[in-house]
Amino acid sequence: MLNPEVIHTTAVAQSLKDYLENSPNLIPIVLCDTNTVNLCFPVLQNSQLKTIVIEDGEVNKNLNTVELILGKLIDLKANRQTVLVNLGGGVLTDIGGFAASIYLRGIPFIHIPTTLLGMVDASIGGKTGIDFRSLKNQIGTFTHPETTLISSEFLSTLAPEHIKSAWAEIIKTAVISDEALFNAILDNTSLDHIIHLCSAAKQKIVEQDFNDKGIRQLLNFGHTIGHAYESMCLANDNEILHGFAVAKGMILELKIAKHLDVLMEAEMLKVIALIVSKTQVDEISDTEFANLLKFVHADKKNTSEKVTFSLPIAVGKGKQGIQISMEELKNWKNQGFI
Ligand SMILES: NC(=O)c1ccc[n+]([C@@H]2O[C@H](COP(=O)([O-])OP(=O)(O)OC[C@H]3O[C@@H](n4cnc5c(N)ncnc54)[C@H](O)[C@@H]3O)[C@@H](O)[C@H]2O)c1
Repeated sequence: MLNPEVIHTTAVAQSLKDYLENSPNLIPIVLCDTNTVNLCFPVLQNSQLKTIVIEDGEVNKNLNTVELILGKLIDLKANRQTVLVNLGGGVLTDIGGFAASIYLRGIPFIHIPTTLLGMVDASIGGKTGIDFRSLKNQIGTFTHPETTLISSEFLSTLAPEHIKSAWAEIIKTAVISDEALFNAILDNTSLDHIIHLCSAAKQKIVEQDFNDKGIRQLLNFGHTIGHAYESMCLANDNEILHGFAVAKGMILELKIAKHLDVLMEAEMLKVIALIVSKTQVDEISDTEFANLLKFVHADKKNTSEKVTFSLPIAVGKGKQGIQISMEELKNWKNQGFI
C-alpha cells in the first residue's frame, strides 16, 4: 500500500489551512491531550476548531480513553465527513488513529506530531493502537492517516527528556536500514535534516511491507526486549518513556547479535556508544532481566518457546525473524555473554 503524503512544513498553521481548503467536504475536530491543547493547539492559529481533550501519558493509552473519544465524537455529531486531526505525540496519534479507524467503521484522520518521536516514527506507517492488560499495543489497526504534517515548530516546548528518548528510535531506524542517517547523527547534522532523513527511511520500509509481514519487522530492533521492559514498567506502575525502553532493549539486542556472530564487536561498540551518548540510559540489570522474561514471553509476536528478534548485521543493515529460545537467552545471561 502506498504511503500517504508526509508534508514537512515550517508553517504548520498554513499547511493545515491548505489541507482543509483542499478538502472542502471535511469538517475537522482536533484531538489534543492536556498538554498539547495549551502548548500546540495555539500554534494552529484557529481557535474556532472544535477540540476533544484527553489526559496525556502512556497510562491513558487504553480502552477507557478510546471510549471517551468515541463518546465525544458522538456528542459532537461526528460523521464520515469528519476528519480527526491528531495533535500530539505518539500516544495521541496511536490512540486517535485507532479511535478514528473504528468510529463508524472508519473516518478520515490526519496526524500532526508534536514530539520528536512522533515526527520520526509514530506518525508514520499507519499503525494505530492502545495498550491492554499491561501489554503494549495489544489492540490496534493498520490504518493510514490521510496525511501527516510534520513541523519542528512544536519542539521548542517539549521536555528535554522527550527529545532524548526519541533519539533511540532515530538510531534504531539508522542502524537497521540507513547508514547515511547513522553518519548524519554522528556528524551532528541539524535536527530538521535528521527528521527528514528518518521519516523518509521509515516510509521507505513501510511502503514495501505495510502489513508487517516481512521487512517492516526490521523496525522491531530493540523492541522485543524494549517492549517487554516497558510492559514490566507499566505492570509495576513505574512508567518509562518508550524511547528509553527501546534504547535499553537495543543495547541488549546488540549484545545478542554480537554473541550470535551476526554483528562484529566493533560495530556493536560503535552503536552502543551512540545510544548511550544520545539517551544516557543504563543497561538492563540482571534482576530486571529475570523479571522481564515473562513479559518477553507474552509478546504477541513470539510463539510459545522461541522469541523473535530483528537484529543489525552491520550499521545500516538488519535481519528479521531471528529466533532464540527463552532457555538460550537465560543461559547467555547467566554466562555473561549478553
Ligand atoms: N504507531 C507507531 O508506529 C509507533 C512508533 C513508535 C512509537 N509509538 C508509540 O508512541 C508512544 C510514545 O510517543 P511519545 O514519545 O511522543 O510520547 P507522548 O505522546 O506520551 O508525548 C510525550 C509527552 O509530551 C507531551 N507533549 C507532546 N507534544 C508536546 C509539545 N510540543 N510540547 C510539550 N509537551 C508536549 C505529551 O502531552 C506527553 O506528556 C508510545 O505509546 C509508543 O508505543 C508508536
